[in-house]
Amino acid sequence: MKSHIESLLEQTLESFKQQGIVPADFQARIQVDRTKDKSHGDLATNLAMMLTKVAKKNPRELAQLIIDTLPASSHVAKVEIAGPGFINFFIDDNALADQLQQALNDDHLGVILPTKQTIVVDYSSPNLAKEMHVGHLRSTIIGDSVVRALEFLGHNVIRQNHVGDWGTQFGMLLAYMEELRAANGEQAKMELSDLESFYRAAKVRFDESTEFATRSRQLVVALQSGDEYCNKLWREFNDISLSHCHDVYKRLGVSLTRADVHGESAYNADLAQVVKDLDAQGLLSESNGAKVVFQEEFRTKEGEPLPVIIQKADGGYLYATSDLAAMRYRSSVLKADRALYFVDLRQALHFQQVFNLAKLAKFVRADMSLEHTGFGTMNGEDGRPFKTRSGGVVKLVDLLDEANVRALELVRSKNPDMDEATLTEIARVVGISAVKYADLSKNRTSDYIFSFEQMLSFEGNTAPYLLYAYTRVAGIFKRAEDIDLSQAKIALEHEKEKDLGTKLAQFGEVLTRMTDKGLPHVLCGYLYELASEFSSFYEACPVLAADTEAQKQSRLLLSQLTANTLKTGLSLLGIETLERM
Ligand code: ARG
Repeated sequence: MKSHIESLLEQTLESFKQQGIVPADFQARIQVDRTKDKSHGDLATNLAMMLTKVAKKNPRELAQLIIDTLPASSHVAKVEIAGPGFINFFIDDNALADQLQQALNDDHLGVILPTKQTIVVDYSSPNLAKEMHVGHLRSTIIGDSVVRALEFLGHNVIRQNHVGDWGTQFGMLLAYMEELRAANGEQAKMELSDLESFYRAAKVRFDESTEFATRSRQLVVALQSGDEYCNKLWREFNDISLSHCHDVYKRLGVSLTRADVHGESAYNADLAQVVKDLDAQGLLSESNGAKVVFQEEFRTKEGEPLPVIIQKADGGYLYATSDLAAMRYRSSVLKADRALYFVDLRQALHFQQVFNLAKLAKFVRADMSLEHTGFGTMNGEDGRPFKTRSGGVVKLVDLLDEANVRALELVRSKNPDMDEATLTEIARVVGISAVKYADLSKNRTSDYIFSFEQMLSFEGNTAPYLLYAYTRVAGIFKRAEDIDLSQAKIALEHEKEKDLGTKLAQFGEVLTRMTDKGLPHVLCGYLYELASEFSSFYEACPVLAADTEAQKQSRLLLSQLTANTLKTGLSLLGIETLERM
């Protein structure tokens, strides 16, 4: 509907150009928004106000002219001018009902697919030297949900898990691995099963023994110059670390596979060329022996120039260097139209600098869109970064275990007679969903407080609320199994049927808003409103006890479309639904 109104307005604008009411070269992005208040219709535009300057007419007068010029449409019941010159559109109930009917018979729920693009999504991307911790949760979950929605819209999505699998810390880890293996193979295996303590133990050795530290440095040099033995050790280490990551992905229901891993090491062979190319373009400067790039746009608060360091004095490359190589690869090999980076907002400056530099150095096509879709910090209930009681990092696995235990208690308390196997399965879904949904439902750009209590509540915009709402809608069908709906038609008569229908028709618009900016909370908010809208409908409009057969069938179809939309919407958030809970 929204795109239909947009196209009517585009045609109107075109005709204004032909009539010379606005200049022929006038460019405008027509904006159509959902109204907040039903008395203002369904959709509204500010087009008249946008045109006043170029058309040299007052906005209400222009609004009337737009209405007079607007092509006739059976979808629009009424058009009105409001306030200073807004135009309000009232959608025709029959047209809306038809749209919903079509949505029911379509795999994409009637969503109009946009022009297909190739989109790289860089997400999760943990450093392999350590275990995944809560800091990786947001990138992993938010990225995966945006990936799913983009794929649903028909885009060619390329997942890139840009893992930190290269760098000096690997020398220390390999040296420790070597030492442990020589002493006791079994012990080595065991210690590697907990990377967090493995890293700590390696660090202790590094700090206590100069011999060990020297060996670590030698191993890095050997690794980077392609030494076979070192590379074998390194591959073994990364393999173990990656399998830890994939255990977590599997448990979280995240769609990343091993094939999506394309980490820093993958660009190792390109780094020297990056330096050469920057140099050839005259972009490199020397600073204390290091090779750096100064860009006019970036200065410290004191006005000092702020460089991107490309190569250290000792020849080592940096995080920015591999990001430059990665961008070049994403542009020229993967042919991406867009690249989204789901990375902590604390890296905002890094991305501004390297994005700017990549364009400047023509490492990426000028029309490729580079987007740092950053996120805030996950805090504990004290409002400070989430830590264990003793102040350590919280391992993701431990967090998920606790969510599971709490969900089991909750589900058991609601279903004291349920068998253990069913309880366990429901609790698994509720626990994981609660953690994911709590994150997805907050605007990613803000920090948020992680609270088990809040995320496991049945009230408000939470996973349990939505999962339960879904089981209620799905439950209606269990009781209506024998009703043949093949000839049924949706009719919107009751006020609450119209409200529900209006909400249902917005699914596509919501997905566009969510994927344009990489904001899953937009979808969460919509599903929550849809569930609430369904409750009001269900309260006011008996379904199985409707007055007539036709009314019953129409209401069943509305319930069915609600169930499909909730299930699809939740699946795009990476959340499984339950048939009962
Ligand atoms: N490994 C990095 C970290 O843990 C994140 C990498 C994000 N992606 C990128 N292309 N820089 O901070």
